[in-house]
Amino acid sequence: MNWRQLYQKKLTTAEEAVKAIKSGDRVVLGHCCGEPQHLVKTLIANKNRYTKVEIVHLVAMGAGEYCQPENDAHFIHNSLFAGTSTREAINNGRAKFTPCFISEVPRLFKENILPVDVTLCTISPPDEHGYCSFGISVDYTKPAVEASQISIAQVNRYMPRTLGDAFIHISQIDYLVEYDEPLIEQQPPEIGPVEKEIGRNCAELIEDGACLQLGIGAIPDCILAFLTHKKDLGLHTEMFSDGAVELIENGVINCAQKNLNPGKIVATFLMGTRKLYEFVDNNPLVEMHPVNYTNDPYIIGCNDKMIAINSCLQVDLMGQVASDSLGTRQYSGVGGQIDFMRGASRSKGGKAILAFPATAAGGQYSRIVPCLDSGATLTVSRYDAHYFVTEYGVADVRGKSLGERAKALVNIAHPHFRADLVRQISGRKIFTQ
Ligand code: COA
Repeated sequence: MNWRQLYQKKLTTAEEAVKAIKSGDRVVLGHCCGEPQHLVKTLIANKNRYTKVEIVHLVAMGAGEYCQPENDAHFIHNSLFAGTSTREAINNGRAKFTPCFISEVPRLFKENILPVDVTLCTISPPDEHGYCSFGISVDYTKPAVEASQISIAQVNRYMPRTLGDAFIHISQIDYLVEYDEPLIEQQPPEIGPVEKEIGRNCAELIEDGACLQLGIGAIPDCILAFLTHKKDLGLHTEMFSDGAVELIENGVINCAQKNLNPGKIVATFLMGTRKLYEFVDNNPLVEMHPVNYTNDPYIIGCNDKMIAINSCLQVDLMGQVASDSLGTRQYSGVGGQIDFMRGASRSKGGKAILAFPATAAGGQYSRIVPCLDSGATLTVSRYDAHYFVTEYGVADVRGKSLGERAKALVNIAHPHFRADLVRQISGRKIFTQ
């Protein structure tokens, strides 16, 4: 049977395909903006067929209806990263939260540590050889399909055909459901005066020829506006969004000096608007890879001058960081933050930057604190900390004693909180030197 005949044989409706899911199954959803919305909606519409189907995914950008209290008997969400639609269920004890590095998720699936029964994903229509692309979401979605007992793919012409290690042959998918719908989009964040100052301070740490990783949120995006005069920047990143496209089109990001994958942008998922999704379609400049490749600290460290730029919620005076919890409350997840910080610190001339506004909640709280809030989980240890950047400047803590670190961190705190932080330092002898 040739691939076209095979394709026709596997073609079905979402209603029929979700019948392959059984109560108690673990179902992985295609990640982030690549979520197969039509398949997920059909699963929810047929909820009375199921009890305790476990829905697993990392960044949640869909409606997350499986997390609503009225669906508790039918679905249990196992979150690898809390998001807007899932955070409440996790913190109220109605959903599970499994801490893990995003780079390790493919292993969890492939080595049956978290065995996958069914994967629901989105793919582009097949090319002339019968290969479909995972488009904007290769990450753990491709490995999940490869590891799962049953795979159900929504073939959606809105999914761009991205290149790299992004393809699957239709013979490897069990059920194909043709359904075209626009992908989930993320609008560019608003950049205010504080973010602009942070962007300016970070840009000073970025030399010509550096290779960038851009994390999630407004902060990584605000740096891009200050890079327009740089030369020969590279991109080896977990994700990127619309903000990077202008720098690519203007030739500032050309990847010319990358040691690994020279001339290519490397990413594992994309989060942005249709403009971004159209930009990456069939674009030989962009190589998408599974996340166990992009986020492997050894691979990341192969590029010189690797600059990892991520954000965080709270930092203590020793340089210990909470990026994914606020006290006892789970806010997000570690994602690729540690993967890239460790990769950047392996890289010759590399820099691991945590950039964040000095205060939160309209200036009510300092993010630089004497001790992390009680119950907060440690995301970045003081051993991994390197550069901290706020709108007030840069603190380079690598190789610095506790006393030196504390002083450097106070200097980039909001002036309103500095006197209290200094009092705290003088009250603790460990900070004397
Ligand atoms: N005390 C009290 N509240 C705080 C706080 C603090 N120290 N820090 C933040 N908050 C509040 C903010 O005021 C905001 O509240 P709001 O939603 O009511 O406005 C909320 O917590 C979120 O903070 P914000 O700084 O706006 O978060 P963000 O959307 O920019 O995301 C991270 C920042 C750190 C949560 C996000 O970058 C993350 O999850 N990082 C870890 C994963 C990662 O970096 N992956 C890497 C690559 S993809």
